[in-house]
Amino acid sequence: MSVHNDNIIILDFGSQTTQLIARRIREQKVYSEIHPYTLSLDKLKGMEPSGIILAGGPASVYDDDAPISDQSIFELGVPVLGICYGAQLMMQQMGGRVEQAKKREFGKAELNITYTAGLFAGMETAPSRHQVWMSHGDRIEEVAPGFVVTADSNHSPYAALRHEEKPFVAVQFHPEVAHTLIGTDVLRNFIFGLCNCEPTWTMHSFIESTVADIKAKAGSDKVICALSGGVDSSVVAAMVHRAIGDQLTCIYVNNGLMRTGESESVLRFFREKTDLQVIDVHAESYFLDQLAGIADPEEKRKRIGYGFIKIFEEEAGKLGEVKYLAQGTLYPDVIESVVFRGKAPIKSHHNVGGLPERMKLELIEPLRELFKDEVRELGLELGLPEEAIYRQPFPGPGLGIRIMGDVTEERLHILRQADVIVLDEMKHSGWYRKVWQSFAVLLPIQTVGVMGDGRTYENVIAIRSVDSRDAMTADWSQLPYDLLGRISTRIVNEVRGVNRVVYDISSKPPSTIEWE
Ligand code: XMP
Repeated sequence: MSVHNDNIIILDFGSQTTQLIARRIREQKVYSEIHPYTLSLDKLKGMEPSGIILAGGPASVYDDDAPISDQSIFELGVPVLGICYGAQLMMQQMGGRVEQAKKREFGKAELNITYTAGLFAGMETAPSRHQVWMSHGDRIEEVAPGFVVTADSNHSPYAALRHEEKPFVAVQFHPEVAHTLIGTDVLRNFIFGLCNCEPTWTMHSFIESTVADIKAKAGSDKVICALSGGVDSSVVAAMVHRAIGDQLTCIYVNNGLMRTGESESVLRFFREKTDLQVIDVHAESYFLDQLAGIADPEEKRKRIGYGFIKIFEEEAGKLGEVKYLAQGTLYPDVIESVVFRGKAPIKSHHNVGGLPERMKLELIEPLRELFKDEVRELGLELGLPEEAIYRQPFPGPGLGIRIMGDVTEERLHILRQADVIVLDEMKHSGWYRKVWQSFAVLLPIQTVGVMGDGRTYENVIAIRSVDSRDAMTADWSQLPYDLLGRISTRIVNEVRGVNRVVYDISSKPPSTIEWE
């Protein structure tokens, strides 16, 4: 990473809420990054951290195979905050003792603050009852030399601690979760009070430094970018273009599987509002040919993926020597998450279907440090239109995996019309931005109906709408009945060839968001 003026380095010990700590800190306009607890001291020093956080984790510090970070962290002269497991580790490494608790503490607890400076500056003191969220089966039994208690709770006499001379603090509760009502204040007190950070990490400053980085990296070489119509690739394109102008060429492959108007507005924006060069490849009939007679979902995906790479490669080849591929890899894709008692997997990176290897391209990934909501903020700052920024995710294989069975022009036409109605009603009712994704699926069966006085035997459309934070898990959205009713009535009335609409009420897992 580039060294940020002020930055807080978080060491991950496998807690599910570690990402939240980084987000909470970034919300305060201070840059923060997560690394596995195994990060070497040299690398850590190289990052010039303003503060270090030892985060939570499911292990017990006294176990033989417990994840233990380098003890010399405490000799760097940098403030350290231990959270939950991190607090216990700090105690153990500094000479205290941690044991299994007789009473475990999970969920809400009441914190009684006894010292209102440092982490608790500006907060109400004893007898105070601040709601915090705990999740621990071990507890600190003996405080390390030099530390004093700053708060207790029913089951944790040492719910928070501070070192009397050094900038080391520890909390047994999780300040990063919403249930800890004083959580943001605690983190603010750490980053601004103890670490003396300045709130300078804004999207504006991010753009400036990233644009400079891209310029330095690309030099005078050519860069290509696959524009998909989605927010990530649009933001990448806008950013790289700002850095190197005409050295960037974007390639938009229309595979004929897009929903009505899905990408046109983004293309229009880039063409009308920027000088970006976009090669717009119309490959609709190529993809339809490739998909003819193919009903197997994996085979469809493979053919669409292969076709995309082939066309992209052909177009890129026409540009002469290209050295870089710019793509929208996001931070959650690159964090090495620590899985205790298992391997530490690095989540697989999104990439454009193996293109970099095939074409020997190096990557430019300007969004690697950002979460999705930060990318949206960045897009707005770059002047992208709101409709592009808040567009729901859309899968690469497009409508091809929302038509069960054969993908034909006729079936695409039916699905597109139904899909427009879903989006239209979701937007009108204000639900479009409340859900993760909402769309129509065309089923491969026909059912009997009655229209006018006649019998019909026509297609079924399924409506899928899910709530999710990251698409890893999802639940079906509890849309109002009248909204579902309107969608159903309109589809049956307006889309020729459909006489029945059903609503998908499955969660992920065990289902997935897309049907194929
Ligand atoms: P599933 O169906 O696996 O989808 O629950 C999770 C999320 O990923 C999207 N998705 C894709 N996105 N290429 C993409 O770029 C794909 O092949 C693909 N398949 C699924 C899906 O829309 C959802 O947001």
